[in-house]
Amino acid sequence: MMNCLQSWPEPVVRVQSLAASGIRAIPERYIKPPSHRPLSKNDFSPPQEVNIPVIDFQNVFSDDQRLRDEALRDIYSACHEWGFFQVVNHGVSHELMKRTSEVWREFFNLPVEVKQEYANTPATYEGYGSRLGVEKGAILDWSDYFFLNYMPVSLRNQNKWPATPASCRELVAEYGSEVVKLCGKLMKVFSMNLGLEEDSLLNAFGGEENIGAGLRVNYYPKCPQPDLTLGLSPHSDPGGMTLLLPDENVAGLQVCRKGSWLTVKPIPNAFIINIGDQIQVLSNAIYQSVEHRVIVNSNSDRVSLALFYNPKSDSLIEPSKELVSDDRPALYPPMRFDEYRLYVRTKGLCGKEQVESLIIS
Ligand code: OGA
Ligand code: NI
Repeated sequence: MMNCLQSWPEPVVRVQSLAASGIRAIPERYIKPPSHRPLSKNDFSPPQEVNIPVIDFQNVFSDDQRLRDEALRDIYSACHEWGFFQVVNHGVSHELMKRTSEVWREFFNLPVEVKQEYANTPATYEGYGSRLGVEKGAILDWSDYFFLNYMPVSLRNQNKWPATPASCRELVAEYGSEVVKLCGKLMKVFSMNLGLEEDSLLNAFGGEENIGAGLRVNYYPKCPQPDLTLGLSPHSDPGGMTLLLPDENVAGLQVCRKGSWLTVKPIPNAFIINIGDQIQVLSNAIYQSVEHRVIVNSNSDRVSLALFYNPKSDSLIEPSKELVSDDRPALYPPMRFDEYRLYVRTKGLCGKEQVESLIIS
């Protein structure tokens, strides 16, 4: 297993280079089967831009108990029913968000030879990449990305981060620190909303120093045939939670809600938060890790920053004891996060197949 993860099974094609070559038809490798296309015959309504729940995070810390209770309740229902919400007034500097997103756009606009110096392999995924999974002949997504480790500090290696633009490393370090802090606050709220001690989820993740955090910057080039492909195939995030800074100007993220795909309308300066598989497991499925995907378009490229907040790699993750009873037995067996993640790193994105396959019958 480890061996086949050392290199890609086929020569890597940068989607950005394909898009820039001026082709009018996309290569077969990117064409999804009809039922997986953005507007398949199984979709009864065209995609609509909607607002997923919006939380004013400031209210969580309000002196006004009514506001506080309402915010906590809204977060609970979002985690339980949607698996997704947006936060505003989250405390992260808007200026920092804009500059970080801008610097990554500049990175992707560099000549391909420069980016190529950071080419990644499936051994760690760190660096500049154009596919997930190592299955030969797989149908690919219409996107490139840059992945880097931020936490734990022992895995943080700034030499692997882009040296150009000059401010990139510094901005990523500052952005990572702010966003990880916000995730820490969310973890407390998620714990309390489950009736657990406020540090319960963080402790299950191995504690503040040991959690994993990785940044994946997604670049979705313009696509001449957006109806035939996807920027990112349907998946749930394998980790704990994801904090996404979407492109403010271009929608693309779609969330599965009651069997339909809803296009998320980005709110300026907001983050999109979603529950990952590990928190679904820890909450014994009270919180939902929900399937999502990304559509592309022919007019604009799109950049998004996804910060994955994960358990320590060798943590055993299982439903919290307090959430298991005779009436509600544990739905999942204990499993190590690194072993769990290997699945997506080998097979690529497969909807919610993995977490569902674990359910104890
Ligand atoms: C992801 C993801 C959504 C987006 O990176 O896991 O779901 O809008 N990204 O880029
Ligand atoms: Ni995702």
